[in-house]
Amino acid sequence: MRGVHARFGEPATIRTYWTEEPMVLFSSPDAVRAVFRLDPEIAPAGRSWEFLRPFAGSHSILLLDGEEHLRERRLMQGPFHGERMRALAPMVAALARAELSTWRGRVVALERMRELTLEIMLRVVFGAHDEELDRLRAVIEETLATVRSLPSLLAMAVVRRELGPRSPWGRFRIAVERFDATLFELLARRRSAGDRERGSVLDVLLSQHDEDGRPPTDRHLRDELVALLVGGHDSSAASLAWAFERLARYPTVQARLREGDPAYLDAVVKEALRVRPALTIAPRLLLEPAQIAGHAIPAGTQVAACIWLACRRGDLWPAADEFRPERWLSEEPGGRGPQSLSWIPFGGGVRRCAGAPFAEMEMREVLRAAAVLSLRPTRAEPERARRSMLVLVPHRGGEVLAT
Ligand code: HEM
Repeated sequence: MRGVHARFGEPATIRTYWTEEPMVLFSSPDAVRAVFRLDPEIAPAGRSWEFLRPFAGSHSILLLDGEEHLRERRLMQGPFHGERMRALAPMVAALARAELSTWRGRVVALERMRELTLEIMLRVVFGAHDEELDRLRAVIEETLATVRSLPSLLAMAVVRRELGPRSPWGRFRIAVERFDATLFELLARRRSAGDRERGSVLDVLLSQHDEDGRPPTDRHLRDELVALLVGGHDSSAASLAWAFERLARYPTVQARLREGDPAYLDAVVKEALRVRPALTIAPRLLLEPAQIAGHAIPAGTQVAACIWLACRRGDLWPAADEFRPERWLSEEPGGRGPQSLSWIPFGGGVRRCAGAPFAEMEMREVLRAAAVLSLRPTRAEPERARRSMLVLVPHRGGEVLAT
């Protein structure tokens, strides 16, 4: 993306293999603002994620647009308020400490973070406990394994042909059926008296009513949980893996993190999300022509706020390539977290990440727990970015030596 930007400037039009339409990338603050302010009536974001439908389900916030999307968003944001996040932090911290205490020698952070963020998701979001944990973990891992390859997910979404239980689509269908059955059992247990009051995200979703006073159906709850899983699991694991990949190469940052200043911890989280945002674009499909920062863009085009460029452009960030949490603190000239429209790891507008408060709390707790370790890279050169479904991960998984 940086190569495209250096060569063609802004905007630049690219072709992707997961959308039929050309995609126009914007990354300067004015253009990013314009993309995030586009009326969902003419620029639905849900349409860009259509290929997720077979797994995400038709009630999914990821696929809805307009009024329906806003209604669903009100419901889904309910559980993620600051107060509740603060209440959940000790549980996340305990899980993080348990994981980090096992780090000795060579560790592939991405693998460990996938396990940890799934564990956190199961307990905090699903409210799972005891033997439920093992069953859910197994079906989720099986299902995510079938959807993690973007090319095969796309191919399946297009073909969707029943070629027997061993074909990719057949395997996917069977995995999703098993996954759904396990979730419906969980919902039945949660609905029965006596199995609530644990304060999980699911408990809040279960207790909510829509605008007509109706409680959510099992299908609807299932799609909400899948949206949280799809939106939150790989993205958090990738962001944390990058944070470890960067930290290992910056011993001075580790040393300062160890001092335990909460403002510095916050700055490390922000800076990790800036310098290696896990999602690269926030796309919207234009159904009508639109003006974006003085450019007339025709209907039938995907326009995208390019997260990767906005967070990394040398003209928007001093020493953009450096991992420098200090830039977020007032002690540095121009500090205190500059341009909000260039720091967009969570996207923006009405589609901004619904789980952002949760993701930031989770990253804080994991990095706080990691501060006791000394981390070194296994090789000096930085890891390159590799795609894994919707996110970018370090190509060796964020390989570190921990002592
Ligand atoms: C560091 C981790 C994360 C990153 C980098 C991230 C990033 C994003 C981005 C870029 C979007 C699209 C925004 C747009 O189109 O403008 C998004 C949407 C979303 N994210 Fe996250 N996310 C993270 C963690 C989470 C977590 C932990 C959850 C839930 C527990 C979550 C749930 C969602 C949902 C439901 C949406 C769809 C919102 C909508 O369409 O209205 N995300 N996220």
